[in-house]
Amino acid sequence: MNILFHASFANQDEFLKSLKKKFFSHKIFTLDQNVPLDIIEIALVWNLPDKILKKLKNLKIIFSLGAGVDHILKLPSYKNTPIIRMQDPNMRSRMLNHVLSQILIYQLKLTEYNKAQLKNIWLNERHTSLNKDLTIGVLGVGYLGKFIANKLKSLDYNVIGYKKTVSAGKFSMPIYYKKSLKTFLKLSDIIVSVLPATKETRDLINKSFLNQMKKKSLLINIGRGSSLNEMDLLQHIKQNKFFFASLDVFKTEPLPKNSKLWKNQNITITPHVAAITDVESSTNYIFSKFQQFRTKRKIKSDVKIKNGY
Ligand code: GLV
Repeated sequence: MNILFHASFANQDEFLKSLKKKFFSHKIFTLDQNVPLDIIEIALVWNLPDKILKKLKNLKIIFSLGAGVDHILKLPSYKNTPIIRMQDPNMRSRMLNHVLSQILIYQLKLTEYNKAQLKNIWLNERHTSLNKDLTIGVLGVGYLGKFIANKLKSLDYNVIGYKKTVSAGKFSMPIYYKKSLKTFLKLSDIIVSVLPATKETRDLINKSFLNQMKKKSLLINIGRGSSLNEMDLLQHIKQNKFFFASLDVFKTEPLPKNSKLWKNQNITITPHVAAITDVESSTNYIFSKFQQFRTKRKIKSDVKIKNGY
């Protein structure tokens, strides 16, 4: 089958090499080869331009090279080609490490010691919270969020989850649904947002949301930047000096040089690296889904277009 690979990753060459090795009996093309686009049946993409998608007239499956699919659904030419997203255990583990690092930096006041060190100060601070005394609210408990929630629970944190709709899935922690967001926010010492970018999540984390969180709190956003109103966050931090945020995703990426978020003392910025797609395990995942499709000649889309994720 004819396959197109297009990604805007720093390690895209390594990814392509790994895919070519695994798919050795198929053709994997890139856009610079100028092949007629109507021969392409499978597209493996991250940030494909709409003008290309428009010309992929014989597409059977789109693989998102990440967990998110907003980069595909936002394209005007996207109709309803089945989408398969990465469900990669290594990506989950990386995301968990990222979340844990941000929780521990906050919980153990490590930034305070860093600042003191720069001034040769032996900071005489004796109190840090125990895991069992912290409640972590995981906003969005899908493939990634549920894993993080379970792992945090196994480390003795109190963990609660928030989900838009009641589902049959089993959870080992209390789950709050749509209308009970207020209670979820009130209970959480730390919020970890793993929300996807949809119409409903746009600016969900706004002034009113932030005001319902604890005054001394940490917001970790590793979902999508579109769910956070950045101006409201800056204003909130101005009024609550013990409110902290760790942001991995932004409304505009790369974060513009002139963004006020960069220099804010209470904000930690990482460049969308919380859940990096793992080349080897993703290659295997794509290949197994591809084989399923070849055997059955059909594939179930991972995306409910109505929900937007
Ligand atoms: C990263 O944000 C991803 O969607 O994989």
